[in-house]
Amino acid sequence: MEPIDYSKRTFNFYPTNGIVFAKCIDGRWTKPEFTNDFNLTLHCFAGVFHYAPSCFEGLKAYRGADDRVRLFRPDENAKRLESSARYLDMPCPNMEMFIDMCVMCVQENWEYIPPYGTGASLYLRPVLFGINPQLGIKSANDVMFVVMASAVGSYSGAKSLVPGTAVLSRNYDRAATYGSGGYKLGANYAQSLHAYNLAHRMGYRELLFLDSATHSHIEEFGTSNFFAIKHGCYVTPNSPSVLPSITNKSLRKVAEEFGLKVERRTIFIDELETFEEVNSCGTAVVITPICRIDDKVTLESGTITCEYKYPDVCGPISEKLYHRLLGIQMGTEEDTYGWCMFVNSPKE
Ligand code: PLP
Ligand code: COI
Repeated sequence: MEPIDYSKRTFNFYPTNGIVFAKCIDGRWTKPEFTNDFNLTLHCFAGVFHYAPSCFEGLKAYRGADDRVRLFRPDENAKRLESSARYLDMPCPNMEMFIDMCVMCVQENWEYIPPYGTGASLYLRPVLFGINPQLGIKSANDVMFVVMASAVGSYSGAKSLVPGTAVLSRNYDRAATYGSGGYKLGANYAQSLHAYNLAHRMGYRELLFLDSATHSHIEEFGTSNFFAIKHGCYVTPNSPSVLPSITNKSLRKVAEEFGLKVERRTIFIDELETFEEVNSCGTAVVITPICRIDDKVTLESGTITCEYKYPDVCGPISEKLYHRLLGIQMGTEEDTYGWCMFVNSPKE
């Protein structure tokens, strides 16, 4: 294999050895299998193509400074997939099967786990979707669960901790008040695609969604959760239509460890001007600082832009949180919480 320059990687599909899959037909799971064929053969009436019975997860395998490979809180991903599948009323692998298939995928793609220090990691994408042929609107009875992997770098393409800009999504919602925003469904992302295209065309890196009922408070970015720092306090929205981020949950623990007060509460748009540091956080984006949020409000007289500005370097508290979290994932900081799961090399 040609040496790969992982330091140039962004968040994309890069070929690996293959994928791991299993099917649940008539309530019985098949034995997980590995294949180097990335193409699936599915019935064209499979529900996934029509009514989107599809949910997924995202987690990373990190090669640490000690050369050992760690998965970060895979049990949390298993639980969240189960809650997404329950929302869609479809079968789901249990936690043991979920974790075993993730481990199998890492081991089968072992040589693609980027070396320590490159800023890259092996991203795992477990996806669960309905495969039985159907035409009426019904939940899927039969499903396929696939775990695939890609060795990725920075989500935005920028170097880590380099701030980017965001815009409030005034014309498009990501999730309805009593909708599916709190679950990791493919359908939620479909809703954000057009709005993201517009935001990117305007030069923004990120799109910050508001609550759909009143458009008065902050929910989350389309890729990640929102958190801010103010007067020694870690503030993040509390809403059933925000995806319960495992990164955010972990950062709240680390913030408490650093003596910060942690608040999960409603954040009204006006409060944006009082924050000292603003970030997006998630598996793909890790912690990405935001240096400006624009709010483009359309009035009869035209559009006015209100700008909320933050430092154009990562704030000191956010940077400290970043290094502690990444340190735990990379084995350079003590994993006080037992968050990491070691994966043995396939040769062991
Ligand atoms: N919010 C959205 C919409 C996401 O897509 C993600 C990514 O998974 C997150 C938040 C962050 O979640 P996690 O930290 O579990 O990756
Ligand atoms: C992740 O962070 O794992 C996600 O699924 C977010 C997605 C935008 C890539």
